[in-house]
Amino acid sequence: MPRRPEPAEGGIIPTEALASFAGVGYALDLARLTPGDRALDLGSGSGTDSFAAALLVGPTGTVTGVDMTDEQRAKADRLRAGAEHIRFLPGHLEDLPVPDESVDVVISNAVINLCPDKACVFREIVRVLKPGGRLAIADIVATRPLPESVTCNHDLWAACIGGAAAEVAYRAAIDAAGLKLHTFQDVPDCQFLTDQARNASLTYGVRAVTLAATRP
Ligand SMILES: C[S@@+](CC[C@H](N)C(=O)[O-])C[C@H]1O[C@@H](n2cnc3c(N)ncnc32)[C@H](O)[C@@H]1O
Repeated sequence: MPRRPEPAEGGIIPTEALASFAGVGYALDLARLTPGDRALDLGSGSGTDSFAAALLVGPTGTVTGVDMTDEQRAKADRLRAGAEHIRFLPGHLEDLPVPDESVDVVISNAVINLCPDKACVFREIVRVLKPGGRLAIADIVATRPLPESVTCNHDLWAACIGGAAAEVAYRAAIDAAGLKLHTFQDVPDCQFLTDQARNASLTYGVRAVTLAATRP
């Protein structure tokens, strides 16, 4: 199981958000969020990481979650309970609804693997980050490229396997966007839930990672 936010954070993160947490790791430590930061959570889902980030940036900072799914956003917005420094916007990672150079830190958990055009997502991240801004994410990669039998399997996409890029291609997309990658590590205890997913994971080295990068 991926690590969930620290107990100190869990005390205030809404239980309903945690109950539908769908992340694959914990990268908020790599984000080095500090009070006053403006954070952007890509694919915020029911909001677990957004709420955890909001505790770290405090009321002088802001957290914006972006998600394409109305139901997820509505739930996170309800759980926000009126907190003014947290907001949830509709949108796609490939065309983020935030201005250029407006964000100190981009976070994301288990989402970029679901995006077919990862190069486009990393370019968008660079566009919205201020110079010197940080990226800290948890995601899924593969040791080697996946065959069509995996990439065209709906169940394996939904299981965060079918869309996993080969690690080499994933790193190359980050680099080509202009980000400087400085941490890339496996999540040691992440396990897939179905036999089909576990088999694909074993065969192709599909696994969860956390990483951090900086916009120069
Ligand atoms: C596996 S869930 C992870 C949710 C959340 N980050 C968490 O850790 O609980 C993936 C989320 O990303 C959203 N999503 C997937 N692809 C997206 C895209 N291209 N643009 C915006 N949201 C996307 C889905 O709607 C879903 O809420």
